[in-house]
Amino acid sequence: MSRILIKNIKTLLGVYDEAPSKLSGKAMNDLPSIDNAWLAIEDGLIADYGSMADWPGISDWRGLEIIEADGRLVLPAWCDSHTHTVYAGSRVGEFVDRIHGLTYEQIAARGGGILNSAALMANTEEEVLVESALQRLNEMQAMGTGAVEIKSGYGLTIESELKMLRVIDQLKTLTPLTIKATFLGAHAIPKEYKANPGAYVDHLINDMIPEVAAQGIAEFIDVFCEENYFTVAQTERILEAGIKHGLRPKTHVNQFNAIGGVAASVKYNALSVDHLEVLTDEDIQALTATSTMPVALPGCSLFIKIPYTPARKIIDAGLPLALATDYNPGSAPSGNMNLVNSLACIYMGMTPNEVVNASTLNGAYAMGLEKSHGTITIGKKANLIITEPLREPGEMMYSFGRNKIERLIIGGSTSLGHRAKS
Ligand code: NIG
Ligand code: FE
Repeated sequence: MSRILIKNIKTLLGVYDEAPSKLSGKAMNDLPSIDNAWLAIEDGLIADYGSMADWPGISDWRGLEIIEADGRLVLPAWCDSHTHTVYAGSRVGEFVDRIHGLTYEQIAARGGGILNSAALMANTEEEVLVESALQRLNEMQAMGTGAVEIKSGYGLTIESELKMLRVIDQLKTLTPLTIKATFLGAHAIPKEYKANPGAYVDHLINDMIPEVAAQGIAEFIDVFCEENYFTVAQTERILEAGIKHGLRPKTHVNQFNAIGGVAASVKYNALSVDHLEVLTDEDIQALTATSTMPVALPGCSLFIKIPYTPARKIIDAGLPLALATDYNPGSAPSGNMNLVNSLACIYMGMTPNEVVNASTLNGAYAMGLEKSHGTITIGKKANLIITEPLREPGEMMYSFGRNKIERLIIGGSTSLGHRAKS
């Protein structure tokens, strides 16, 4: 039995005897904590915690690792609920094109963008994909991420989509991170179907979704509902087919245009609606009193210079909000949750407490992990961040572009943060 005791923690954050499933509205600013705390881990799970003033002491030293955390904050590891971490090659050429004035949409319209990554995907071996994705996941882990959702969507053929999902499946056995898989065959209309997009939607519904479901290698279904990608009507058909095969919707909506994707997703009980850079009052209304988690992706806003998701409008309307990286080769080539968190404070007006909740419990909820991840609660997985000596959580976001994490514990095994590695 592996056992770890963390002692003299300056502040233990996100502590709940009984954790809520998500936090919404004003409650997003509450971050229950214990100053001068201890926390015990047994077999990868949080076994107990409390104040040092009431510490029972150590009665059994066998196999016990002790971590002194004086001056340091301890909080749940980041839960990154939206990524495309499996991809081939790079799209640095498009990055340079944007520097010269082209927009993300113009690049896509001339056949680049997602189709560029799909062409690279078709010619890349599974082992190469596993190796490169593993490297990205290791980097994310060093930056404090303990759980991550990964989408397919650069295949766009049945063979290539299944290849991506197999890679995600393999990654689950190669990293201590908790991984959830999403089928995103509806990421773009493949070149071959340009004249007849409806035929691709039929192929998705009749062939791809049933095969993905039969193989049991995805839990969620995603659609990029957007002008020039998938219409609201097509999105609804695809989500319905996914649900019929046991896949719960998590969708890409309102990145460039508000075309009704939010209401369509809510209608199909989506677990999350992601992007939301362009958000109408009707969209807010559609999300009210539902179980759908809005997810903002500020790294994408930064990288392709589009508006930031209006977090204040969402939270002040009483809704919940999660933050994620969107790690992908086109619109957000970074898996750094610390940078995402800083951007959320600086550009989206979120408080440090709101950001911690958005990137832990609400992120866990957005990938169906809220029962086992995202808070300091007895019985949850011991995925924990131990920071450098810090005064308060806001110092993590204040130190933008840096990583104030000294050590990460994932399911009871400790790994070092970036500083000790380099
Ligand atoms: O979430 N918007 C659609 N999908 C990705 C970008 C994919 C790409 O450009 O490769 C996103 O931003
Ligand atoms: Fe995305």
